[in-house]
Amino acid sequence: MNVLVTGGAGYIGSHTCVELLNSGYGVVVIDNLCNSNPESLNRVQKLTGKSLTFYEGDVRDEALLRRIFAENEIGCVIHFAGLKAVGESVSIPWKYYDNNLNSTLVLTKVMEEAGVKDIIFSSSATVYTADNEMPLRETSRTGNCTNPYGWTKYMTEQILSGMAFADKAWGIVLLRYFNPIGAHESGEIGEDPRGIPNNLMPYITQVAIGRREFLSIYGNDYDTHDGTGVRDYIHVVDLAKGHVAAVKYVENHKGCEVFNLGTGIGYSVLDMVKAFNEANGLNLPYKIVDRRPGDIATCYADPAKSVEVLGWKAEKNLMDMCRDSWNWQSKNPKGFA
Ligand code: NAD
Ligand code: WQD
Repeated sequence: MNVLVTGGAGYIGSHTCVELLNSGYGVVVIDNLCNSNPESLNRVQKLTGKSLTFYEGDVRDEALLRRIFAENEIGCVIHFAGLKAVGESVSIPWKYYDNNLNSTLVLTKVMEEAGVKDIIFSSSATVYTADNEMPLRETSRTGNCTNPYGWTKYMTEQILSGMAFADKAWGIVLLRYFNPIGAHESGEIGEDPRGIPNNLMPYITQVAIGRREFLSIYGNDYDTHDGTGVRDYIHVVDLAKGHVAAVKYVENHKGCEVFNLGTGIGYSVLDMVKAFNEANGLNLPYKIVDRRPGDIATCYADPAKSVEVLGWKAEKNLMDMCRDSWNWQSKNPKGFA
């Protein structure tokens, strides 16, 4: 079966292409490269020894999507394409609503025309409200998002679940990712953010490689074991394997189901620095600074439903995540450039 992967040249998409190809699926990618480099797809093909089909273009381009469905026998879609910078979404909200919502609306319209009704969507733990008890379950409260990026994920979940309710032929899986880090163990593909990284691990690796002077730790007065923020970091290869499990699931299950993809374990920022140093024999310079607005103290998943229903479980540990992140960055100091 061929899987259409939107945003397949990006960080999570490229790792998922590897796992799909290794599991015997055909892969067709559409990506407009607004936040990625096509070299990632060359590396995917080199790593797997298999080829994929790439269309450079925008998911909102209805004519191009029709052509892709006409030229390829697509059985399922994984929809990664989207903008994801939380801060930018606050300053340019229209860009986020246009890209993230219209891409889904155009994609599902063309899927319906083509008679393809299985879709896996990249949602996020950001859809959970900040006042939930930990760990977060799929039934925990959602909404009250604090930024337009989060609202696009929340609204897309509403759009897709409404479609599944109205037409029982749709098979829809909403995957709520926690904090993906790490890279393929080969060091051939990994996260290559443009500009100054917003997220913790790419910032750490850029400090380690000498592109940034020190890590700023945003606050050490949270109600956590050492005062720094706690998150559920998940290895991107485990996350990619979760998508293969979802593709298999959706072949046989229609309706709309939501799954957390996390490990169930929370680590603090200081835990991460310590683990990164230990895994790689480094001594990362850092400073404690003020809290970052919008951050919460603690966020981690209950992954039990994914284990039971998808038969998927994160297998890699924190040392793997820290070692593979650094392996990628040290082999590619400037990313794919
Ligand atoms: P990424 O930016 O590396 O990948 C997204 C890809 O989509 C990029 O290659 C980009 O060029 C492409 N793209 C964006 N808009 C497009 C459009 N209109 N048409 C065609 N291509 C388009 O991001 P990622 O980290 O791989 O994230 C993938 C998905 O997972 C995103 O939807 C993101 O919101 C979601 N997600 C990411 C995280 C995370 O921390 N990385 C967490 C939760 C959810
Ligand atoms: C992790 C921890 C920071 C950077 C974001 C999005 C979320 C999702 C994943 C897409 C926090 C601390 C960070 C730094 C630091 N993305 N930190 N210094 O905020 O949990 O989630 O990415 O859906 O929507 O909000 O991830 O990696 O930014 O932060 O101290 O330079 O590291 O305060 O405690 P976050 P993060």
